[in-house]
Amino acid sequence: MKKTAIFLFAAGATLAACTGSDQAAQKNIDQQEVLSRLSLEDKAHFVIGTGMAGFSGDNAVIGATKNLVPGAAGTTYPLDSLGIPAVVLADGPAGLRIDATREGDTATYYCTHFPIGTLLASTWNTTLIEEVGQAIGEEVKEYGADVLLAPAINIMRNPLCGRNFEYYSEDPVVAGNTAAAYINGVQKNGVGTSIKHFAANNQETNRMNTDARISQRALREIYLKGFEIAIKESKPWTVMTSYNYINGTYSSESKDLVETILREEWGYEGTVMTDWFGGKDGALQMWAGNDMLQPGKQEQFDSIVAGVKSGKLAEADLDRSVQRILNLVEKSPRYQGYKYSNKPDLKAHAAVTRQSAVEGMVLMKNEATAAPTQGGAKPLPFAEGIKNVALYGNTSYDFIAGGTGSGNVNHAYVVSLLDGLKNGGYTVAEDLKNAYEAYIADAKQKAAAALEEQAKKDPQMAQLARFLPQPLPPEKLFSDSELTAQATAADIAVITLGRLSGEFLDRSMADFNLSASERQLITQVCNVYHKAGKQVVVLLNIGGVIETASWSHLPDAILCAWQAGQEGGNSVVDVLSGKQSPSGKFTMTWPVKFTDAYSSRCFPIDEDPRIDMMNQGQKGDVRNVDYTEYEEDIYVGYRYFDSFDVPVAYPFGFGLSYTTFEYSDAKCSVDGDNIAVNITVKNTGSREGKEVVQLYIAAPDAKAQNKPAKELKAFAKTKLLKPGESQTLTLKVSTADLVSFDEASSAWVVAEGEYQMLVAASAADIRATLTTHVKGSTTQAHNVLKPQGQMNLLRR
Ligand code: BGC
Repeated sequence: MKKTAIFLFAAGATLAACTGSDQAAQKNIDQQEVLSRLSLEDKAHFVIGTGMAGFSGDNAVIGATKNLVPGAAGTTYPLDSLGIPAVVLADGPAGLRIDATREGDTATYYCTHFPIGTLLASTWNTTLIEEVGQAIGEEVKEYGADVLLAPAINIMRNPLCGRNFEYYSEDPVVAGNTAAAYINGVQKNGVGTSIKHFAANNQETNRMNTDARISQRALREIYLKGFEIAIKESKPWTVMTSYNYINGTYSSESKDLVETILREEWGYEGTVMTDWFGGKDGALQMWAGNDMLQPGKQEQFDSIVAGVKSGKLAEADLDRSVQRILNLVEKSPRYQGYKYSNKPDLKAHAAVTRQSAVEGMVLMKNEATAAPTQGGAKPLPFAEGIKNVALYGNTSYDFIAGGTGSGNVNHAYVVSLLDGLKNGGYTVAEDLKNAYEAYIADAKQKAAAALEEQAKKDPQMAQLARFLPQPLPPEKLFSDSELTAQATAADIAVITLGRLSGEFLDRSMADFNLSASERQLITQVCNVYHKAGKQVVVLLNIGGVIETASWSHLPDAILCAWQAGQEGGNSVVDVLSGKQSPSGKFTMTWPVKFTDAYSSRCFPIDEDPRIDMMNQGQKGDVRNVDYTEYEEDIYVGYRYFDSFDVPVAYPFGFGLSYTTFEYSDAKCSVDGDNIAVNITVKNTGSREGKEVVQLYIAAPDAKAQNKPAKELKAFAKTKLLKPGESQTLTLKVSTADLVSFDEASSAWVVAEGEYQMLVAASAADIRATLTTHVKGSTTQAHNVLKPQGQMNLLRR
């Protein structure tokens, strides 16, 4: 990382103390009465949050208030004399983020750390995702929060985006449907969600001031589509606008984005809030359609009051936002007088997170390469004879549950792979365990001492560092003779590779590629164990894509466990032991080399991150830092690799199982605008398993029309199929889903012609092709969010 420019909090952002707690239960708010009692200044206060009231300087880097629910990101502004309480807004998405302990209180307030968003999406199981959402929502409600600031559904435009772990996919249909399931689950509890970050928050570098320059078509088809799907299918209580500019205008100051697209075109009726300290001009943000500016700054208050006085902001617009916040307050458990218990069912939720993590793990390789001791069997699941496991890799012992920043969860524990194996009845090589534990303790001590040193020199940086992903120590290495002795004693080796990423920082090239110590560890362990006739499994404990092509031939099996939440080790062992077959599939493409991703030529790589907490920086002119031109246009992820025949390490939608599936009887029926594709999936192997089926559509004349070779339009997952069992799945598409955006006419156009419907096990594994004729149609949209200059856009 180069020299970091940091702006920390200015003092005096607190506007009011927030004292309201449980108000008497009321059903409705008389909005007209409330409005009539508010002065202009009251209204301006009401729409800007409580300015991090009561925050402690120690934890104020990401949203954190000491009010009502300590550690929650913020609250709305209370109007105590009118009986309007502050409602609590707290982060997700991997669980509720609040403080686990409170001053002067011996009770604990731990929350369940569920798997990261990427893992959840990799389950492709919307029923399960809804269950996870429901469990998270119960914690929100029982810990006295009202709105969960999640899910985060920005498109994984490039493998190095630091927050990809929170996001779902490179594809908007996966992102949108995953988000809808999550939101429906959370909101079943009568608490709200905030779908974020609307929109195009696809890099962390200079995130408060970077301009995402995107064609109208790519915006509509890729970057807004997932939001559109989720908003229509799940009605989140709130939407959070993003930090960045889009084509020269801050998202939070863009009326075209918030009013024209979100409200007018999509019919969104909820409340819109800014991201924490996002945007610059309070009056403009309100005019653009944000109802609430979080967490609230004095300048925003001044700007709103002055804006109304000067006529820049109509008071009627301010009143409308006040009413939308009142709608939100009215629905909230706090306003309705819900007596929360502070005792969510953490035990039940541990089971939910364990199961959900199992379903999102992706088996990448499983080959009987060097297995004489296993009679030629595949390494996974572990054969009967496997009892003693040699565990390598620091993160085997120090498992990473999730990413850092606002998406972190204050969990009570994390089950490491070591613990998971023991819980599963395996023994682990004790000498190795002892050596690793000493190594890790030493590395942690050194890191803490370095931070302390830094704190003396640069206290602000040290404070910030607590919220940034800290570099992991190099891998511990062994001599060949040490390894030979270990291989003699063990039945199999497992090596875990870990990656930690988070808010504020994009990942680096070094993070994408293996380090020298990781490469040496894998090479040496594979050599020695294979010589001893024993197999090696590599486990990936990561939040985003890494390079695999140069080393994936070495181990016998590779399992991507992602960052699997607090029960991670148990979930992994459920898979390794064969208690359950993995059934996750990738929701993003794994490139052979980083530079194979087209967006790698227009993404910040190893740049100064420009961490600007209070948005005090100015617009600059550095390519990929101050502005990023999305030159790949609509060719994001598999849309690029497929259309331009670029080889990949693992395709979108890929994932192996312990069993095999046969697809048959593909049929397509058309009823008016609805197309239904039926496919029968049979478990042809000898173990139970679930299969994810994907439906891609290839448009007529795609290449000449500059359309992707194919696009995902629907997906489904089977139930748990026993060996020999079949299930017929129906995948539904509406002809309206076959649109592409025509910039010349600002319209969504369905081209008339023969469409191919590709029933697939992954983007590279088409199992059946059907054809149907679709009539053309055009739906007018607004000509908004136009890029200001010419860009060098990729075309087929
Ligand atoms: C993040 C949001 C988060 C907010 C409140 C911001 O830094 O971008 O995702 O909800 O803080 O903590």
